[in-house]
Amino acid sequence: MGDKFYVTTPIYYVNGEPHLGHAYTTIAADIVARFNRMKKRRVFFLTGTDEHGLKIQQTAEKLGVHPKELADKNAARFKELWRLLNISYDRFIRTTEPDHIEAVKHILQRCYERGDIYKGYYEGWYCVGCEEFKTEKELEEGHVCPIHKKKCEYVKEETYYFRLSKYAEPLLEFYEKNPDFVKPEYRFNEVKEFVRQGLKDISITRPRNRVWWGIPAPFDESQTVYVWFDALTNYLSGVGYPKPEYRRWWPADLHLVGKDILRFHAVYWPAFLMSAGEELPKQVFAHGWWLVEGHKISKSLGNVIDPFVAVEKIGVDPFRYVLFRDTPFGEDGNLTRESVLNRINGELVNEIGNLYSRVVAMVHKYQGGVLRPTVDFSAQNAEFIRLFRQVRRAYIEEMNRLRFHKALEEVLKLAEFLNRFIDQTKPWELHKEGKTLELNQVLYTAVSGLRILSHFLYPFMPTTMERALKEVLNVEEFTDLFSLEPYQLPLPHRVGQKVNLFRRITEKDLDFIKKVERKEEERMEQKPEGVKLVDFSDFQKLDLRVGEVLEVEEIPKAQKLYKLLVDLGEESPRTIVAGIKPYYKPEELKGKKVVVVANLKPKKLMGVESRGMLLAASDGENFSLLTVDRPVKNGARVS
Ligand code: MSP
Repeated sequence: MGDKFYVTTPIYYVNGEPHLGHAYTTIAADIVARFNRMKKRRVFFLTGTDEHGLKIQQTAEKLGVHPKELADKNAARFKELWRLLNISYDRFIRTTEPDHIEAVKHILQRCYERGDIYKGYYEGWYCVGCEEFKTEKELEEGHVCPIHKKKCEYVKEETYYFRLSKYAEPLLEFYEKNPDFVKPEYRFNEVKEFVRQGLKDISITRPRNRVWWGIPAPFDESQTVYVWFDALTNYLSGVGYPKPEYRRWWPADLHLVGKDILRFHAVYWPAFLMSAGEELPKQVFAHGWWLVEGHKISKSLGNVIDPFVAVEKIGVDPFRYVLFRDTPFGEDGNLTRESVLNRINGELVNEIGNLYSRVVAMVHKYQGGVLRPTVDFSAQNAEFIRLFRQVRRAYIEEMNRLRFHKALEEVLKLAEFLNRFIDQTKPWELHKEGKTLELNQVLYTAVSGLRILSHFLYPFMPTTMERALKEVLNVEEFTDLFSLEPYQLPLPHRVGQKVNLFRRITEKDLDFIKKVERKEEERMEQKPEGVKLVDFSDFQKLDLRVGEVLEVEEIPKAQKLYKLLVDLGEESPRTIVAGIKPYYKPEELKGKKVVVVANLKPKKLMGVESRGMLLAASDGENFSLLTVDRPVKNGARVS
């Protein structure tokens, strides 16, 4: 089974139109699917829509339509977007489809027969946006959900529970044996920590009289299956479960999800599968969230990115490219006008597109459009061959690890090399001097390089690279990545036409990326009014620790903030955002021992979640971080 690859996206709620976040995960899955096909693997790529549950039921009620009607309308919009974005999925699953409904009943019945489901009562706060019960601890004041900023509903009702508590130990054992189960690693640590604190049983049905839009529980028709149990099962039903054919693909090789829904995929889903006696997925990868010009995307700020508009303004493939060019997959990204403009005009138009046109134009001008048989050139171009091998190795390695931005960096080395190669070998002079043989060699090398470039860029920009290969270079087919070599084109070879592969964009095209003025940094600087006396017990509430600064990063658009990685002697270092940029250079901070308030509630600053605060002293003129004057271990308590 080593040669199969099964990749999934989350299935998206149909209560609204698709947005940037949906497009991001789905394009990532498409890149992975195309890359794996180029590695000659049998690929199955599943995406779809999550159509049941209270959220859809309530939205439909508000709109005065039947939930199915709402689902049909929005599922069609998702499909339309995937067509536009060239998403090469093998199945688009909808949870209202009969085979999925049967699969949900089947697996739930298995858990029931296993003795993992029992009847009880539930009382608590429910966030319809998250479709999840929340503990008091997880909520903001007034029982407001921190994600949706809406008050939760208080619910008291009969329900069936799933014995999640029973699976804490087996899950921890599984994590231990499968160190790559969740990526990135720091997120895996969060998952493990959550499970280590013990798991509570979870309610997996809702009374039908409250939530009627969903699948009836097979063991009690008066109850509706919890929408997350329903939704997660799509990964099995999408490949045919419970029919034996699902084994052709199951277990999934990769579930791609956003960081907000990792717990469902890395804790609940494996527990359900263990209970039903199914194999567990190989990996869950949690990506970060997109910000726009440093701000969280939200309807109220009016900075939502409509992927349909983005594609209209900058083109499909440039849109796909910019989303993966800079931001490490896993971390939060910040979509800015500046970066989009630079990447498209600077890289795609000037460096890549121009390279194709330039080379093909020269083959036409100097050789009538034909590359001719030539003597052995491999020795002369050893540098190109060496670079190709090195780039291919690194590219495959980075793509396997979903480090897309690194893979692209590698590919760009090849484009840079080819641009430089042409500048240095000066085909126009070779032509003038009548050095036909050399000229032919240079152009053959350049075309070979472009053929390779088209392969490496193909998963990111499939339509453009297909045109580049077929129309510009006149090469029929893509070769798989392992058989790909330079100088494989049989000569003579007639090249195709000069085509502008990318369009230069203007500031105006980027109006869909809205800038929002907010004074987040200013708010940070507010000083407490007056100082009160406190009890010693108040002071003891603070967990002060010695830490060591490991890394320092700038935050785009932030004048005063650095993003620091600080080692507090814990399993993994913490991200801390500190307003010390005006006072310290990054190199002064690296390795510095600092004092950290370690039990502050995490807070997002300029889109980065900060898990602590550094202590510093200031007299209005001078500024100094607090440090220790003798060596003590990281994590040492300050009291
Ligand atoms: N229906 C559930 C998933 C069930 S999977 C068995 C769901 N749907 S969703 O439509 O709300 O969101 C799906 C995905 O969009 C999540 O992975 C989420 O992380 C992602 N995004 C939503 N907003 C985002 C950004 N601003 N940036 C990046 N991705 C974000 O959850």
